[in-house]
Amino acid sequence: MIILKKLNIKNNISSNYLKWMNDPDVQKYTEQRFKKHSFKDIRSFVSSKNSSKDEFLYGIFIKKKKLFHIGNIKLGPINFIHKTAFISYFIGEKAFWGKSYGSKAISEIIQIAKKKKLKKLKAGVYEQNLASQKVLKKNGFKIEGRFKYEKVYNGKRYSYFEYGKIL
Ligand SMILES: CC(C)(COP(=O)(O)OP(=O)(O)OC[C@H]1O[C@@H](n2cnc3c(N)ncnc32)[C@H](O)[C@@H]1OP(=O)(O)O)[C@@H](O)C(=O)NCCC(=O)NCCS
Repeated sequence: MIILKKLNIKNNISSNYLKWMNDPDVQKYTEQRFKKHSFKDIRSFVSSKNSSKDEFLYGIFIKKKKLFHIGNIKLGPINFIHKTAFISYFIGEKAFWGKSYGSKAISEIIQIAKKKKLKKLKAGVYEQNLASQKVLKKNGFKIEGRFKYEKVYNGKRYSYFEYGKIL
């Protein structure tokens, strides 16, 4: 079972979290890979999202005896006029890949988006990121746009896809 919970600056900015942000495997299909992350950056990121009116950041936690933080998911930016929002996510603990936690986190964020009366969610993925496309499709997202030649990865150019789900 997973739980999405707002991150606490004191308790949740762990050395594991820092490791995920700097792990080339975890970040290989995200824009985070271009940056060396520090505790300071992460604290400032989490704190800005925790006070944001249009972006909602949640830790993905597994509930065992204690809550175990394995990744993050973000709803936003939200466009309150059109009632749409982007989502982005990662499971940082690689031992937990392929165990449905990514799919479940998206399913939970869909419920949160519905509670906020949003009408549509969107997500952008690199064409090579098949795991991410799979979790979107499993949650009813459909491909809406293919942006050719959009992203650089290891010196070559690749397509970027946008997926959407009508709520
Ligand atoms: C994308 C990500 C969140 C998926 O999380 P997850 O918990 O591993 O996802 P799930 O276990 O729910 O599902 C993954 C599915 O993709 C499949 N998959 C994994 N790697 C794959 C690959 N290289 N090719 C094809 N399918 C793949 C899995 O088999 C699984 O499908 P199944 O349930 O039918 O067996 C996770 O891999 C991740 O955090 N990646 C790094 C960060 C990232 O890319 N974030 C998204 C940016 S858009």
